[in-house]
Amino acid sequence: MRAHIVTYGCQMNEYDTHLVQSQLVSFGADIVDSVDVADFVLLNTCAIRGKPVEKVRSLLGDLRKIKARRPLVIGMMGCLAQLEEGQQMARKFGVDILLGPGSLLDIGKALESNERFWGLAFRDELHDHVPPAPAGQLQAHLTIMRGCDHHCTYCIVPTTRGPQVSRHPDDILRELDLQLAAGVQEVTLLGQNVNAYGVDQGARLGGYPTFANLLRLVGRSGVRRVKFTTSHPMNFTEDVAAAMADTPAICEYVHLPVQSGSNRVLRRMAREYTREQYLAHVADIKKHLPHVVLATDIIVGFPGETEDDFAQTLSLYDEVGYDSAYMFAYSARPGTPSYKHFDDLPREVKTERLERLIARQKDWSARKNAAKVGTTQEVLIRGEAHSDGFLEGHTRGNHPTIVPAAIGATGPGVYPVRIDHATPHMMYGTVLGPDGHPLPQVPRLDPQAAALSAPLSMA
Ligand code: SAH
Ligand code: SF4
Ligand code: F3S
Repeated sequence: MRAHIVTYGCQMNEYDTHLVQSQLVSFGADIVDSVDVADFVLLNTCAIRGKPVEKVRSLLGDLRKIKARRPLVIGMMGCLAQLEEGQQMARKFGVDILLGPGSLLDIGKALESNERFWGLAFRDELHDHVPPAPAGQLQAHLTIMRGCDHHCTYCIVPTTRGPQVSRHPDDILRELDLQLAAGVQEVTLLGQNVNAYGVDQGARLGGYPTFANLLRLVGRSGVRRVKFTTSHPMNFTEDVAAAMADTPAICEYVHLPVQSGSNRVLRRMAREYTREQYLAHVADIKKHLPHVVLATDIIVGFPGETEDDFAQTLSLYDEVGYDSAYMFAYSARPGTPSYKHFDDLPREVKTERLERLIARQKDWSARKNAAKVGTTQEVLIRGEAHSDGFLEGHTRGNHPTIVPAAIGATGPGVYPVRIDHATPHMMYGTVLGPDGHPLPQVPRLDPQAAALSAPLSMA
């Protein structure tokens, strides 16, 4: 079998793609990177906003056409698969296998079945399952919990991924050991609300470690860099900031989604914290980690958001001074409370506010990144950048970074880099040697000479 997986959505979906892919490989499948050469195409879907849903609909349309011409097994997994909306699509486009986020380990049974297979249960085995480490990668994801116990009124995730279940720390550490043995240098702990890790299993009663203590355990494992996402402000405790400060492997990067700066909107979103409480968490974080890099998520144009509410989001933005942000226009999702109870704002209002917020974020990112010029950052180089002779990677604070390949730094690895130049979205630097001096660059063809010789080599 030649299988091709297309992944939409968040890092949790990327992790699940890896999990299912490793199952397929264990059944003897070849993983191919194009639909054209695949006899099994599996879409790992996302339902968070309208756009990813529409992408899946259009891809399913294309796949149905291919299937009319040649044998093809079509599969659908992930968040949309768990929803009636996704199942209707699956029926319409002739999907053979459908697996919700809790049924991923049914993939083997599904492929053996001669009929359409629908797996929608939330199975316990998934939490104990330890997939093999990704091969040849310096970075890995590690799911520490699934599902979500919050009920933010705009959000479909509690419906698609069910209630929160934390994985046992032994399974997490076992998976981490495999990753370390495979050469992983940076692990990102994943969950919808990692700060509440263990709470569902009685962490407070001494059963599972708290998230702060899990961070300390993971940080002591020998892994070089640890990141985590996402933190819900309501469950954020000062001890998490303290654990970050006392555990060198934990990167000084916090992604703390605020969603809105207006208490009125936060209440209607059912976020369970106020602007003031959020700012108190930020103050705690800055106290323990003066050089922290802060990122957030913001939804603009939530139903009923007034110009004054939006102004409060902008002012909170300035008060915190975020390094980066994921910004979204509200998208009404069928099945969520806000879809049912509130009227959507006109699209133009949402777009216009989103543009203003993006401009504000760009200013802040420019300022924050410029302040890093001249500093030395630890950069995890993933591999070659788009332009020849350059490598790309990211810092401990998640800044995308480009460096020229240097003698001693021609491929993946973790290197000290002096930042020479910064834009709002990218940092440019030079790899330093052990003596703190720039490593000599790999000699490159003069770009002008390369341009001149191009037509000749094509002839
Ligand atoms: N569990 C994470 C969020 C996961 S979803 C948390 O609570 O922080 C990722 C982001 O998508 C959210 O933070 C939110 O900003 C955005 N989002 C979720 N539902 C949305 C919707 N209906 N419309 C627009 N953005 C949405
Ligand atoms: Fe969605 Fe809220 Fe849960 Fe995040 S915390 S996944 S936004 S319900
Ligand atoms: Fe992630 Fe999308 Fe599901 S953001 S949790 S894949 S709805």
